Amino acid sequence: MPSIKLTTRDGDQKTLNGDAGVSVMEIIRDGGVDELLALCGGCCSCATCHVYVDASFADRLPPVSEDENDLLDSSDHRLANSRLSCQLKFHEALDGLHVTIAPEGQAL
Ligand code: FES
Repeated sequence: MPSIKLTTRDGDQKTLNGDAGVSVMEIIRDGGVDELLALCGGCCSCATCHVYVDASFADRLPPVSEDENDLLDSSDHRLANSRLSCQLKFHEALDGLHVTIAPEGQAL
């Protein structure tokens, strides 16, 4: 089964298995990592699923939508490799994807 590598805010590393077709947010949440709040449940309206994605996977990710871009802009912690993990559908080509949970807090 393909998997992602996750770095938590404390710097802990975890490997989480995921099914193709689910979002990276769901893999993290279902892996028992509760620091990723994902308050809107994946509707692209809260930005509490903010992660940093390893640059080596950038060309395998879907483009950032206007809604995702607006939400990321509301974060104090946006970086060039920021994404909302609920907007990243997992699939085989993303096996080994490394994501780091972004710091909490955003300008609302
Ligand atoms: S879970 Fe709310 S924007 Fe991703």
